Amino acid sequence: MAGTYLRARRSLATTLQPFARPQSRLNNHVPRRLASTTSSTKRTPSTARNVFVTTVLATLGTITYYYATDTRASLHQWLVPRLIRVFFPDAEDAHHAGTAALKTLYSLGLHPRERPPFPEDADSTGANPLAVTVFGTTLRNPIGISAGLDKDGEIADPLFALGAGVVEVGGCTPLPQAGNPRPRVFRVPAVDGLVNRYGLNSRGADAMAARLRERLRRFARRLGLSEQEMLAADDVGVPTGSLLPGRLLCVQIAKNKKTDEKDMEAVIRDHVFCVQRLAPYADVLVVNVSSPNTPGLRDLQAAEPLARLLGAVVDEAKRTERRTKPRVMVKVSPDEDDDTQMDGVVQAVWMSGVDGVIVGNTTKRRTGLVKEGVKLTGKEQKALVEEGGFSGPAMFDRTLSLVGRYRKMLDSYSLKTSGVDDVFPTPKVIFATGGITNGDQALKVLNAGASVAMVYTGMVYGGSGTITRIKKEMREKLAIKEA
Ligand SMILES: Cc1cc2nc3c(=O)[nH]c(=O)nc-3n(C[C@H](O)[C@H](O)[C@H](O)COP(=O)(O)O)c2cc1C
Ligand SMILES: *[C@@H]1O[C@H](CO)[C@@H](O)[C@H](O)[C@H]1NC(C)=O
Ligand SMILES: *[C@@H]1O[C@H](CO)[C@@H](O)[C@H](O)[C@H]1NC(C)=O
Repeated sequence: MAGTYLRARRSLATTLQPFARPQSRLNNHVPRRLASTTSSTKRTPSTARNVFVTTVLATLGTITYYYATDTRASLHQWLVPRLIRVFFPDAEDAHHAGTAALKTLYSLGLHPRERPPFPEDADSTGANPLAVTVFGTTLRNPIGISAGLDKDGEIADPLFALGAGVVEVGGCTPLPQAGNPRPRVFRVPAVDGLVNRYGLNSRGADAMAARLRERLRRFARRLGLSEQEMLAADDVGVPTGSLLPGRLLCVQIAKNKKTDEKDMEAVIRDHVFCVQRLAPYADVLVVNVSSPNTPGLRDLQAAEPLARLLGAVVDEAKRTERRTKPRVMVKVSPDEDDDTQMDGVVQAVWMSGVDGVIVGNTTKRRTGLVKEGVKLTGKEQKALVEEGGFSGPAMFDRTLSLVGRYRKMLDSYSLKTSGVDDVFPTPKVIFATGGITNGDQALKVLNAGASVAMVYTGMVYGGSGTITRIKKEMREKLAIKEA
């Protein structure tokens, strides 16, 4: 297993080097100029000055290139997010601009990325304290980017380049839909928070599938395989969704707004449609679910419809025409935190064969989000009471508590129900999302039972170096513990 990974890594290193391009272009620049100038008849003071200026500019250019494209550069944390807020007063405009910029920079090889000293997240001895095994894949690190940042699956690769072990694209609906009228995203900078009511704007499953398929084909071509051969292969050395060693690509699916949520057959149809289109390109499919139980109303029958929907997704995922089938996870709201509601989800998860739970999301609640002494501007006060889901560091304590409770409930349910033929059921995997912005918080949710800590709003305020910083903080914390 480890051998396969090593081999895959080496072969990938030779195929996946879009970075090498601009680098060599810059380096070539200097010698060529030098050669042409020195070959001219005589060196006048002005040609000497030209050589000097060219060399200085090329050196500066190279340094700027290395600095600006390194996720550790402080400009990504302190300057870029602020500039974006100034130039794009509307948060959604900023979101689109950011996505477009990452896409363009990536195609030019000028995108921000992680550089050594921590290639593959391993240290100089080759050890990787951040490695974690999820669904049989040894992830190079347990930090993820959660749904909604790359709604249409356009920038998975540039997001992986920022250092994430997991990227979740979507949510994606079967047919394209516009979402709610704008404005629908609001900033609350005083608490590094956001309020959004996008309402799942999506270009639809066919459009996302086309994009992900093109990505897979490009990869297969580099290995000298056809798309079919690639999907049928036993082991191409990388997960078939992320196409990168030690990383996973999650694809979130959802029903269209016009599909009546009470019409279970229609809801199932919507989800199955998405699975059929998108499953070949995903390592994990994520379903957004609502608890079947209303608080205070314990009803064992209640879990059945949800279990049926999830079961249909699991079955369809297993029919994917690919050697390795995608796993299925559900994402649950932090507002459904009553014991009976969580119980309903836990039951449905075990009944349906879903592989794990993404615990957390934005919250509709607005209590306890602003600490005493924090002053909000009028605009921020208005933003905070906009209809929609709030996200930001203020949610962290709730996320942490919910992860611990889900861990306990998922594990004890498996003990209660394990039959003779299933004495050691595989534990359900938890990913955590909601207010995670630093290494300490990431370690806390991992210690509470999550395998991956996901971020979104933290990147909006912390910039493209956020994941690199979180991992550095984790490594430092772990090293202190070791010592
Ligand atoms: C603008 C925006 C759009 C989002 N879109 C989705 C989405 O489509 N599906 C989803 O499950 N979560 C969505 N989320 C929720 C995030 O994935 C994440 O769970 C949540 O923001 C909490 O994490 P954070 O505090 O790190 O942002 C969205 C969040 C924001 C701020
Ligand atoms: C996702 O689940 C939440 C409740 O947990 C619900 O309000 C929302 O409508 C769901 N979204 C979709 C697209 O199903
Ligand atoms: C998660 O949050 C997003 C954006 O705020 C929303 O569209 C989605 O319905 C939420 N899902 C759940 C399960 O609450």
